Amino acid sequence: MTIRSATFNGVAVIEIARPEKKNALTMAMYTAMAEALIAANADAAVRAVLITGQPGVFTSGNDLEDFMQRPPSLGKDGEETPVARFMGALLDCEKPVVAAVTGAAVGIGTTMLLHCDLVYVSDEARLAMPFVSLGLVPEFASSLIIPALMGHAKAAEKLMLGEPFTGSDAVECGIANAVLPAGEVVNHARRMAERFNNLPPSAVRETKQLMRAPLKARIREVMGTEGALFGSRLRSPEAMEAFQAFFQKRKPDFTKF
Ligand code: COA
Repeated sequence: MTIRSATFNGVAVIEIARPEKKNALTMAMYTAMAEALIAANADAAVRAVLITGQPGVFTSGNDLEDFMQRPPSLGKDGEETPVARFMGALLDCEKPVVAAVTGAAVGIGTTMLLHCDLVYVSDEARLAMPFVSLGLVPEFASSLIIPALMGHAKAAEKLMLGEPFTGSDAVECGIANAVLPAGEVVNHARRMAERFNNLPPSAVRETKQLMRAPLKARIREVMGTEGALFGSRLRSPEAMEAFQAFFQKRKPDFTKF
């Protein structure tokens, strides 16, 4: 099993558990995460959701083998891809979502944090959005939210150069709340999630809605634009070179393009 979900003491915990592949997300895992989020949202006993990974790794992002062998189609006639379903479920989750970033958070491992409400990062974590290095473009409205959070110049380091950054950087630029020692990050995040058990749930839900509403339509619009570009870039020779280089454990050669 690669996604574990269970509710304890009012907190629906969604644990990414595929450590042998650094928690890379397959289509089945996106579907399982979407279903867990939708179920948590509908369950009156759930006051908050906690998304977490494994020691040393939150998630290395989309499974690159999946990207190479089965690039998601853009979804015709309203048909949703598993990743779009996951993104939609996270955007539409009315309950507070807390993330415990237990280690490396690559690609969607970082961009999903932009749609969580409270984010706690291990002091060993490295975050990165290396879309360009993979021949791709940003997703999950990161091309909108990252520059808005930190300004264009800092955003360009992260989105155009794909520079990794630490948990402290993530706190400084407003992506995360705090950095915790690796052994404490999950328990801390769980305690923060459990605080919602003592708060009035409708007031919490309506506050989240008020905070998210102003940007929601814009976020969906940008996700549509990003998604169309991302889908065609996945099939590009630049992306093929990047994916092959990853699995052949060599540096990609973009000089030929
Ligand atoms: N998709 C598929 N497989 C992945 C993966 C991914 N996103 N990330 C890691 N793996 C696999 C590796 O291929 C390797 O498999 P193997 O043991 O069969 O060779 C295994 O997981 C361990 O990965 P490795 O790279 O050896 O671990 P590391 O500790 O040296 O580095 C990362 C960890 C996360 C920094 C590194 O794996 C990485 O950069 N992964 C790719 C991240 C990425 O580009 N994601 C897509 C973003 S859109």
